[in-house]
Amino acid sequence: MSLKGKDEILKQLMASSGTPVSGQEMANRLGVSRTAVWKYIKELESEGYEIGSIRKKGYYLLETPDVVNAAAIQRHLKTAEYGHHIQYFESCPSTQFIAHEEAQNGADGGTLIIAEEQTAGKGRLSRPWASSARKGIWMSLIIRPSLMPQQAPQMTLVAAVAIVRAIEEVVDVQLTIKWPNDILINGKKMTGILTELQADMDRVKAIILGMGINANQEEDDFPDEVKEIATSLKMVTGEEVDRSRLVAAILYYLELYTKMYEKNGFQPIKLLWESYSNTVGKRVRAVMLNETIEGTAIGISRDGLLELKLDDGSIRGIYSADIQLAK
Ligand code: BTN
Repeated sequence: MSLKGKDEILKQLMASSGTPVSGQEMANRLGVSRTAVWKYIKELESEGYEIGSIRKKGYYLLETPDVVNAAAIQRHLKTAEYGHHIQYFESCPSTQFIAHEEAQNGADGGTLIIAEEQTAGKGRLSRPWASSARKGIWMSLIIRPSLMPQQAPQMTLVAAVAIVRAIEEVVDVQLTIKWPNDILINGKKMTGILTELQADMDRVKAIILGMGINANQEEDDFPDEVKEIATSLKMVTGEEVDRSRLVAAILYYLELYTKMYEKNGFQPIKLLWESYSNTVGKRVRAVMLNETIEGTAIGISRDGLLELKLDDGSIRGIYSADIQLAK
């Protein structure tokens, strides 16, 4: 896990939990001069870290800003691969665009692109995704599982289940999943997942898992057009979420469930997904590009498609649609 100089200094300060770390010691460990260490400290201070110093003893951390940079996330990380390379942005148009570029340029599987703010966040079906600064988790993970392109829809469901498990571990909330992978609390959307593919005819080259998690927003942080349908973890629990801890937990479960899926197939994931589903058993309307159909959702197929029983008794597998609960 290689970190840049500044991140490495931050990691050492965090690890010492308030005990001063000598500038010379940090310089030696990094193989840089003491002046370079001093410059990194100044840079960290300009980012909001409060760093104290005691003559002849060294530097210590007084206050950490709420950020989701590499040092903050990797402090909690328990994965073998995911999140070991992190690119962090204060602001960017969309982490999804950057992740696509990085994947094309050969970035390792498990590389994470994360931003405090997105100015052109993108949702499913080409909708905009509101990504206000420092309130949510806006990130795209590049994964390179050994799968065929037709298995990609299943991977969407793997991601939904993994994120639900991670959120439940960090926050005391009850979650449901609306097909394929909207995560809801009390019927309002708290997380959206955008799964995109880079593939040859017979092989997945990379899956870009874009995740938007509404963590610490208040109602007024959402644009008017989504206020009615969106919620955040803080709005439900009344408490601030430690975003970097949640990111690390998500990476852990994503890695665990992706490996489980590659090894044991889709059946265990299907059962987990169905146990969280708010769609199965309901009468729904599936709005697709060229048609809208109504039926009862009876489950998901072995390929990850939503199965609808139509009024004429026939069963239709839905690959991609906007699902609304029918009256
Ligand atoms: C949805 O419409 O439900 C999917 C929303 C996905 C949003 C995330 S935020 C991080 C990543 N970057 C984007 O531009 N979109 C995804």
